[in-house]
Amino acid sequence: MKLLKLAAAAVIGAALLPTVQLSPAAAESDDMPVLKADINGDYLINSQDMVLMSKYLLGSGELTAEQAERADFDGDGVIDTFDLLGMRKIYVRNATVAPQGTWIGSSSDSTRYFWFNKGREGSFADISDSSSTAFSMSKWGDGIDFTLPSGDELSSTIAWLDTGHFYLKWSGSEPELFTYKSDVPFDKGPFLKGEYVSDAGNTYKLGSYSGTCGDEEISVLPMGTKAQFISSDGTAKTGDFSRMDKNHFTLKWNDGTAENFTRREITVKDGITYVNGILIANKTYALPSTYAPGGLTAEFNTAFAKMQAAAKADGRSLSICSGYRSYSYQSQLYNNYVARDGKAKADTYSARPGHSEHQTGLAADINYASDYFNTTPEAKWLAENCYKYGFIIRYPKGKDDITGYKYEAWHVRYLGEEDAKLVYDSGLTLEEYLCIDSKYSY
Ligand code: DAL
Ligand code: ZN
Repeated sequence: MKLLKLAAAAVIGAALLPTVQLSPAAAESDDMPVLKADINGDYLINSQDMVLMSKYLLGSGELTAEQAERADFDGDGVIDTFDLLGMRKIYVRNATVAPQGTWIGSSSDSTRYFWFNKGREGSFADISDSSSTAFSMSKWGDGIDFTLPSGDELSSTIAWLDTGHFYLKWSGSEPELFTYKSDVPFDKGPFLKGEYVSDAGNTYKLGSYSGTCGDEEISVLPMGTKAQFISSDGTAKTGDFSRMDKNHFTLKWNDGTAENFTRREITVKDGITYVNGILIANKTYALPSTYAPGGLTAEFNTAFAKMQAAAKADGRSLSICSGYRSYSYQSQLYNNYVARDGKAKADTYSARPGHSEHQTGLAADINYASDYFNTTPEAKWLAENCYKYGFIIRYPKGKDDITGYKYEAWHVRYLGEEDAKLVYDSGLTLEEYLCIDSKYSY
């Protein structure tokens, strides 16, 4: 469109633009924005460009179509002294203004963030890399020198396109286009690193500065309490960050919507599924039939002994009525329940073999594995205190559809103190806390 306008104007102002040829080749220029006033196209605006411009205006030099587009500073289709004034403006800007704030630098082979602090020092980070490098800057005319902590010096020339864009022409390499992002320094924002699912139905894999949302590559710009997600097409949205706990945060986007993120990193080792490092056995995630720790784990026993002593001091008596159960023992139990109550009913309270937490050696039933236990003072004590010793009530009341099982006040699962407290404080079931399902696929 711009070139068409220029072509039309070239016809009208034919006397002013006698030598301009608008060719299809010029219309297919590369995708880097045109640097106005850079007449000879070397990403520098210097005396060479001035000479070309002056000669053309004096009628003693010619410009190619591409050069004419760059020379037409104000884009009105005519090359005149107003363009020369615009060129002078950029000249002055290049000589006097150093960039400040956070900018994204892009060239054909890299995208990186730069923070320019008052035009004197700053840091940069490659978005594929979590490390960042500090630098100090010195500016002279349109030149900027960068000194790195290693003592290495990099020299460049700045050429402004407008207040939100400039090129740095590094000596000996391609020009890098800078786009303004923020007046806040980018930071590493380790909070965003990891794999997440969100209640907006998105799946994210986030690194320090880059990542994916579904199949789409995104850039991630963490800035203090905000984060900006930039799509590959350049569209950006900024969110206010607030953290719930180490596995949960919310971004309140600038369009007013909020997206809740749950860290969910699923790994499978020897057929056993871990979510964020937590071993999972439920209706969705089965254990191999060969998985047989043979008893409750040492961590479980130590933590239980501690809890038992604390309960005793409060006048409550806790004991284990069913601890570790092998695959084959669970198989017998389940089949007996199916014979007695039918499969559909049995599935509401007994795990199929391979799906029981009892096979993990990390779960046990306390006192009585029956509804009688629910109303005892021990059940109340357990619900209020077990997290302090690293346990959670695994199948809480009213969460049958989520955990897959009816309420069991007696079944505790050992998670370790940190995770148990996080789950307890969240008020969520383990499935909700990790954003996973518990549903048989067969
Ligand atoms: N009662 C629990 C769900 C089990 O069988 O493991
Ligand atoms: Zn149990």
